[in-house]
Amino acid sequence: MSTNTNNNGLPNIDDLQNLANELFRTLPNEFPKEISLSPDKSEHPRATKIAETILQAGNLGNTAPIPAQDPLNIQPNPNSFSGFGATPTIANYSNTGASALYPNAGAGFDPQSGVTTSGVQEDYNLNINNPHTGFHDSNLKNGASPQLTEDSFFSQLLLNNQYLPFQTENSSFEIELQAALATVDTQFKKRDISPLNGNGPGNNYYFLDQNPFAFDKKSPSPIVGNTFGSKEIGAITGTNFNAELIKKDFPILRETVNGKPLVWFDNAATTQKPQSVIDRIAYFYEHENSNIHRAAHELAARASDAYEAAREKVKTFLNAGSVNEIVFVRGATEGINLVAQSWGDHNLVAGDEIIVSNLEHHANIVPWKRLADKKGLKLRVIPVDDDGQILLDEYAKLLNPKTRLVAFTQVSNALGTVTPAKKIVEMAHSAGAKVLIDGAQSVSHMKVDVQDLNPDWLVFSGHKLFGPTGIGALYGKEDLLNEMEPYQAGGNMIQDVTFEEIKYHKAPNRFEAGTGNIADAIGLGAAIDYVTKLGIEAIGQYEHYLLEYATKLLKEIPGVRLIGTAKDKASVLSFNLQGYSNDQVGQALNKEGVAVRTGHHCAQPILRRMGVETTVRPSLAFYNTTQDVDTFIKTLWELKKVRF
Ligand code: ALA
Repeated sequence: MSTNTNNNGLPNIDDLQNLANELFRTLPNEFPKEISLSPDKSEHPRATKIAETILQAGNLGNTAPIPAQDPLNIQPNPNSFSGFGATPTIANYSNTGASALYPNAGAGFDPQSGVTTSGVQEDYNLNINNPHTGFHDSNLKNGASPQLTEDSFFSQLLLNNQYLPFQTENSSFEIELQAALATVDTQFKKRDISPLNGNGPGNNYYFLDQNPFAFDKKSPSPIVGNTFGSKEIGAITGTNFNAELIKKDFPILRETVNGKPLVWFDNAATTQKPQSVIDRIAYFYEHENSNIHRAAHELAARASDAYEAAREKVKTFLNAGSVNEIVFVRGATEGINLVAQSWGDHNLVAGDEIIVSNLEHHANIVPWKRLADKKGLKLRVIPVDDDGQILLDEYAKLLNPKTRLVAFTQVSNALGTVTPAKKIVEMAHSAGAKVLIDGAQSVSHMKVDVQDLNPDWLVFSGHKLFGPTGIGALYGKEDLLNEMEPYQAGGNMIQDVTFEEIKYHKAPNRFEAGTGNIADAIGLGAAIDYVTKLGIEAIGQYEHYLLEYATKLLKEIPGVRLIGTAKDKASVLSFNLQGYSNDQVGQALNKEGVAVRTGHHCAQPILRRMGVETTVRPSLAFYNTTQDVDTFIKTLWELKKVRF
């Protein structure tokens, strides 16, 4: 943040006060939360001095005088202020609202993509686009040249106490201030929060001194804490992936259930959230909450920037060509319904055919079945073999000139089967059909690259990717999205409204009517940051190891029937245990603190194909350990001993 100056070239007192208070609000409780700077400075001379010192530290790299800004001398872009909400990109508010306070706001705006990376550029002290709930203190006491980031205020204050005001005095205020700054130092060094930072060197995990993903080829020990059935498996025994440490980033995994540590094996239903995601959402409500795309004020700019930055993260995560291809939706289910209604209902006619696979979740069956019933379409099903693998030859026979759409999952939620997605897409396109991929179960386990897979649409849910519930994304090819009818109608999705005619925005706003789930979209961005920092390939490799480990031990238990034994599987182990209902197994596991889903998993057709109505379904994620697997296996052995 820059400040205005008065006639004497001294900082404007209101700016100083705002700046100091903005900073103080981000500090631990030891700091005052609010200060007021009286005009004659006699009331709070020390607070004034601190604020000036902070300002000075922040402006060290700014040699040129900062021009005074007249916040009222900004020409609003009419599109930004229409009562219906308007702008499809952050360009407009960056050039209006944000720039009123941040003179270089919008400097990163790319007129081609219509996107700017941030309304507040990096060279401002407070980078509101990249906020921290802690301080990434990479410069702390290391003598590095100060960077003009939020962190560096404190880095510099702490750097040999160089900028600490009144440092030679020994009043209680100074002693308290020193102690509070030391707390900032130790607290935030311990909780180095750079999952929110995204760029910081060094440690990116809250509680860890080292990257937990160091692959140590020499280490014979697969992972920590293996106390049961500790057989090493396959070629992955050299992987030194410390999931025990990663677990510490997930506060809920410190819960106990029935006096036992929680083992979360219900990841296919929903995943747990790292502290960085929880903090990011709290930060939004504490510092940024506003509606987006609708106003010139500061918080509107912050919220809009953060929301659009999250879209950019989804785009990068999926390797989409443009942010205009990313629509925020409630989750995978809403994404599929959107395509069924906005494309299917308007483009398909009686006699057209839709192909789904036998593996599908109800979310990728019911919308198509309803559409088929409504319009006289034919719904055809790709069969699977007894292991739960797609039969490509049979699929080839289903494709014909009437096939308009192939909708299939990349990973089965009930069996864990990984489908040959790229091949299925290629074959559909050769037949002239469009393709939708359900990525709900795949994006958290493997790299999903939409340019490589080449579907027309792909959907996923944030809550299965360590992000919040109620938010997800629909990827769609840009031209196709722009040809599609709007999904819901209302504010934010229109360019212009009269009682005679309505003009719609292009994607993505075309499909984001009303006030969306702003905070959770931003939380999803933080989840993507977290997963990206761990590395999706490393995650996949570790989970594969864990799956093999668990599968081997599960198969050794007499009376266990594994349901779904595809060669290529991801993180799901569906089974039945002879002599017990699935609910009984689930309850026994719950007694030991192990959470699994039992039931039909919203995928009745595939379970029936496998000859069962329901299963017990543990599903794994990167924070699970072999020790977790051992607890689970041990409980099943105990059940087995009682009944047969
Ligand atoms: N689709 C989620 C599951 O498989 C809810 O459990």
